[in-house]
Amino acid sequence: MSFTIAIDGPAAAGKGTVSKAVAAHFGFAHLDTGLLYRAVGALTLKGTPAIDAARALVAEDLEDPALRTPEVADAASKVAVIPEVRAALVDFQRAFARRAGGAVLDGRDIGTVICPEAEAKLFVTASAQVRAERRFKELTERGLETSLKAVLADVEERDARDRERATAPLKAAEGAVVIDTSEMDIETAVATAIAHVDAVRGGLSK
Ligand code: CDP
Repeated sequence: MSFTIAIDGPAAAGKGTVSKAVAAHFGFAHLDTGLLYRAVGALTLKGTPAIDAARALVAEDLEDPALRTPEVADAASKVAVIPEVRAALVDFQRAFARRAGGAVLDGRDIGTVICPEAEAKLFVTASAQVRAERRFKELTERGLETSLKAVLADVEERDARDRERATAPLKAAEGAVVIDTSEMDIETAVATAIAHVDAVRGGLSK
């Protein structure tokens, strides 16, 4: 049986952590769809045209540790505005969403475009300042040299591009439960997400 949990939201809102924890809790598979766009972005930085990169993407492209850098995030949000890039990645994501045994996908357009029929939809967000602080901490812990000001500027620029693009803009899906983590610790965010999924599952089994 398939059961899809769609988790969308802006940059560094905590989607990744919530998605992994929710997937582990229910024993579902997890796909970080941001990695697909990051992998395409990284290939464009090496000179491959974006549409060719998206059409030829293979699993190994998702394993490069450099995908987590701010340069690649920026390149990802630039390729993500190209409709042909998005189209090339749709089938893989939809098949993953409907795999047997349940799936959690996190991204920007999972509940709106990739899987509007997802049984549970969440929109995880937080203020730009809080998100920048979290991403700054994450990057400095990984040894990357940057400043809070630069990270905030990157996050705001990327959010604006993601929200304003014509194809699959970032927004909460209809029926999505919004979890604002600005003043919430990660345990509470995960518990809120799990409670929503439990409520949906309870409703479905009646
Ligand atoms: O980790 P973070 O939230 O900063 O970003 P990400 O989820 O890895 O996504 C990187 C970029 O890929 C985003 O800024 C979007 O432009 C794009 N993306 C998208 O357009 N659609 C998705 N489903 C996932 C990511």
